[in-house]
Order: sequence, then C-alpha cells, then structure tokens
Amino acid sequence: MINSYLNKITQGNCLELLKNIPDNSVDMTFADPPFNLKKKYTSYADNLEFQEYLNWCELWLKELARVTKPTGSIFVHNIPKWLTFYATFLNKMAHFKHWISWDAPTSPMGKSLQPAHYGILFYTKTPKDAKIYELRYPHKRDRKQGYLLKDYGGKKGLLHPFGPLISDVWTDIHRIKHNRKRDPHPCQLPIHLLDRLILLTTDENDIVLDPFMGTGTTAISAKRLGRQFIGFELDEMYAQIAQEKVNKTESNFKLGETWVSFYLKQVITIRHSDWEDLENYFIIPNPAKVIDFQKIKLKNKHWLPQENQHEIQLQNHEKTEENVSCTNSSQQKLIFK
Ligand SMILES: C[S@@+](CC[C@H](N)C(=O)[O-])C[C@H]1O[C@@H](n2cnc3c(N)ncnc32)[C@H](O)[C@@H]1O
Repeated sequence: MINSYLNKITQGNCLELLKNIPDNSVDMTFADPPFNLKKKYTSYADNLEFQEYLNWCELWLKELARVTKPTGSIFVHNIPKWLTFYATFLNKMAHFKHWISWDAPTSPMGKSLQPAHYGILFYTKTPKDAKIYELRYPHKRDRKQGYLLKDYGGKKGLLHPFGPLISDVWTDIHRIKHNRKRDPHPCQLPIHLLDRLILLTTDENDIVLDPFMGTGTTAISAKRLGRQFIGFELDEMYAQIAQEKVNKTESNFKLGETWVSFYLKQVITIRHSDWEDLENYFIIPNPAKVIDFQKIKLKNKHWLPQENQHEIQLQNHEKTEENVSCTNSSQQKLIFK
C-alpha cells in the first residue's frame, strides 16, 4: 500500500490518507500545519476554535507517531503557543529530543515580548534506537570584511575548517520573503531548512513523510538529497504546483558520493562524520589560523549542482530582500507567515 504513495504528492485530507500508511513504515515525519492564524489558504479555513484546533492537531500527531519507524524521528513546526500543547500530546507517544529555535521574525502578537522565533519540536519514536547525526554549518562571518564573528582568541587554529557543530538555535536560515506574484501560497518554508532536518535524521533512500506539503518544500528537499518522500496536501492547486516542482528536481545535492545541502552557491550543511570524504573538495585555510579572515572554498565551482530555475529565482529574490529592513507593518504582513 505504501508504494502507491511513494515519491509523489497526493491531494487529499491527510487524516484520511494517513490511514493507508502502515505502522512503523516511515523514517522521518515533518509537519508544518496551518497555525490557526487566519491565513488565507485556498482550501483550508485557518480559524478554528481553540479546542477544535487542538483536537484536530492531536489526531494527526497520533498518526505521525504511529507511522514512524522505531529508528525514526518526528518534527513539528509551529509557533511556541501551539507547540506547548503538541509537546503534551507527543510526550505520551514519543521521546523528546530538542526544541529547535529557528530565529525568524514571526507575526507580532500581544503587547509583551516581540516573538522572534518559530519552534521545531524534535521527537524520536524510541528513546535509544533513533538515527541522529551531528551536523556542521559554516562559521559566521562579518558580511563586509569576512572576519569570524566570534572571538576565539589564540584558539583559531583549532577550529574545524568547515564550521561549528549545529546547536538547537538556528540563526543562519532566513524565511522566504513572500512575493504573491511569484508564488500563490501564503507560507512556504526555505528548502534548506528541510535539508538540515533530513540530513540530521535520515539516510539515502529513507522515506520522509509530510502531511501538509504546501507547494512541495519537503518533497524537493528529500528528492535532491536522494531520499524518498510521501506528500499529502488538501489543496488541489498547491498539490499540483508541488508535483510540478518535484518533477523538475534532480537528486544532485552531492559532493562525490556524499549528500550535502547547498544554498546560494555554498555548501551550508554537512554531516560531521562525512568530513573525511568531503575535505578533499575544499581549499582549506592554511596555516589554520588564517581561518579568521579566509573562508573555506570549493576547489571547483562546477561541483555545484544545477538547481532548477524556480529555486534560483527564489534565492536571488531572498538575497536582495535580506538587505532590506522591514520597518512598517504593511511591509511586515507581506513577509510574515
Ligand atoms: C503551513 S502550510 C505548509 C507549507 C509547506 N511547508 C511549504 O513549505 O510549502 C500548511 C498546508 O496544509 C494544508 N492543509 C490544511 N489542512 C490539511 C489537511 N487536512 N490535509 C492535508 N493538507 C492540509 C494547507 O492547504 C497548506 O498548504
């Protein structure tokens, strides 16, 4: 049964479709549900009563835990308010690993602290058997001068040439600043956010399931990293856009035989355990202490994957938008989920 859902986007209600997925059959589940913030989805009314929303969430969270393999992981993305309830549901059926704090401006709410992060709850199905890999990301540098942002004093020569281990606070991935003319979905995640979760917990050919696929972020990430995917999406138009984008995606996020995440012509996430295989692809600062002002570089730019045109457009757009500070609320409305 599971084969008929593999590597395609299926349009429909995830609660119905999940019934067809066997217990313990999927390596990773990722859910980015509607946040009940009155977003304008084409087919879904994002304004349920408080308890009605939570009851609905509990149903699909149970399904995600059921279909995840004993070696598998469950990720759920939302605003902290809803994640506190999700945690009480998930604590009964899975094992808490981390609350990943994704540093990104969120909708202004209330009059106390300005919300500045989304949360991604990270649970494993079993306490000990889960696959989890350490990851590294590039050192943070001053944009203009290229110097390391952190002062490591006399210890610069001891730094890992690629970059530090990834913690549970992610500040290096920016939200896609939404442009309605280009993309008819109100909230689309950056694909390299998913790359990171997929590299963290799955291997080649593993199955990644996303019950709220939107316009295909998780499926594209899975495919370009050589994983299989199952995607459900209620809305016909979003499902179609997602399928078209997936069809144009290649499984090519690789250096040699090693899967890595690329963004803006750089390698931005690797597995720590892959470094021995990867280091030959890079020009490494030498002597080691010049890492302070010298970035690690790919030896050959032809090793960068040919990304599809849609992705390049998004990246170029994001690059320009990153430099624009958003000061008034009408501008903010455009970029917030
Ligand atoms: C927050 S968006 C997901 C966006 C997605 N992560 C992306 O990057 O494109 C939530 C999606 O869930 C879909 N949805 C809502 N209820 C659903 C249901 N019962 N089954 C499947 N999809 C549903 C909505 O149409 C919407 O596209």
